[in-house]
Amino acid sequence: MTYSLETIVSRAKRRAFAYPGSEIYGGLANARDLWPYWVQLRRNIMDTRWRCFVQERDDMVGLDASILMNSRVREASGHIANFSDPLVDCKKCKARERADKLIENYIEKHQISLTDVHVEFGVKSLAVESRTFEQQTAFLSVFKVKCPECWSSDWTQPKKFNLMFKTQQWVIDWEGKDIYLRPETAQGIFVNFKNILDTTRVRIPFWVAQIGKSFRNEITPGNFMFRVREFEQMEIEYFIPDDVEIGLKMLKSRKEMSEKWRTEQIGIKKDRLRFREHDASELSFYSKGTVDVEYEFPRWRWELQGIAYRTDYDLSQHQKTSGKDMQYTDPMTGRRYLPHCVEPSRGLTRAILTVMIDAYDEEEYTNQKWEKEIRTVARFNPNIAPVKFAILPLIKKDEIQVKLGEDLFHKLSKKYFCEYDDNGAIGKRYRRQDEIWTPYCITFDQQSVEEYHADPASVTVTLRDRDTMSQQRFLVSDIEFMK
Ligand code: GAP
Repeated sequence: MTYSLETIVSRAKRRAFAYPGSEIYGGLANARDLWPYWVQLRRNIMDTRWRCFVQERDDMVGLDASILMNSRVREASGHIANFSDPLVDCKKCKARERADKLIENYIEKHQISLTDVHVEFGVKSLAVESRTFEQQTAFLSVFKVKCPECWSSDWTQPKKFNLMFKTQQWVIDWEGKDIYLRPETAQGIFVNFKNILDTTRVRIPFWVAQIGKSFRNEITPGNFMFRVREFEQMEIEYFIPDDVEIGLKMLKSRKEMSEKWRTEQIGIKKDRLRFREHDASELSFYSKGTVDVEYEFPRWRWELQGIAYRTDYDLSQHQKTSGKDMQYTDPMTGRRYLPHCVEPSRGLTRAILTVMIDAYDEEEYTNQKWEKEIRTVARFNPNIAPVKFAILPLIKKDEIQVKLGEDLFHKLSKKYFCEYDDNGAIGKRYRRQDEIWTPYCITFDQQSVEEYHADPASVTVTLRDRDTMSQQRFLVSDIEFMK
């Protein structure tokens, strides 16, 4: 069963995942503060990613380039000239919208075919990127596309709205220089290409991975954390020989790796993933292929990741703009060339949201009084659950139960994120842990106390499994070595 985004968002707020930022001052549109469980979930996803793609490989290195960079980096990458969306204002209610999104939604809702659009505007593809401002204006007016706020259809002409946040860095005498918050992490990798070659042992082919914040002044942020102005990306640049056949093979293998990591490591449902290859009209002039990894959710298809074969475009742009030689010398043949690059670019924020959606479930069960109840449970890969073990002494007033519980908490929390909770009825405590995804609850009870008095090494506890709700007794010493 699929639950609505609203249900999942309301649960996320109730259980300390994410909340509006600066709330005591009335908030800041679309800014969110991440609360304890989201922070832990994010850290676990980042850790599995780093382990699988950096730690376990000998052809991969990690990088953390700075967010603020010399503006010439953005000039070379094309972000200053081209990183923009077509903005239109509703003349009646002043709502701001993206012309391309209005058109895209209209085409989807009204099932407009390529032939219709082709006849009307001479456009050869439904791909939004291939439409000019004139064609967008004509589309909005011919199809009378309505404003989602006030339902009128009177739009201004589209204009270019650059998505980068601009700020100033002081140089001398209060004169500022324009700089930008990075809109993607990737350029930090390209400008460090030579430094990495000079200071590490990697040789082509090799990968550079980075995880970090990016900023985009989105015109229409929304859908909770799906489109936000401050988000995190996990990007990799795979530097390969300047051979298109190798590049295309790499693109295919990256697609397979992507699916494996998502489904096996973080538990995204395979049947919701779609791989959409860009057709020729969507590809940038330098790209030899791009695949979007999308997630099918009832009302939308979300782009989780783009995997792009970018040829030598980025290195050649930086070589041209900086005047620095970015070529690689093949150690066997001595040949010098600009390496090609395959770039998988994943959104971490979107991955977290997707995982929350896939994990969420509600189910009927019979409680200890033989009554039917509904429990909310997030069925979640134990690898990344924010809390791995909850330690719950059955009776708070029993000193031995509390002591044993605290001792185990201190031992387990050296390796895992754990919670200690001795407050309230045990059933309620289990429900709370189900909602925050804790895969295992450990309960100390009267039997544990008796075992402690007989022989402290013989103490057992119940281990409750979140998904089946079954309970089994284990020696505490065995639990300490559980994975
Ligand atoms: N370096 C290439 C690049 O940045 P992109 O398709 O613009 O490509 C990559 O972004 C990924 O970053 C997207 O697939 C998405 O998961 C995430 N992303 C982009 N904009 C976002 C936003 N405003 N909010 C949340 N995630 C976003």
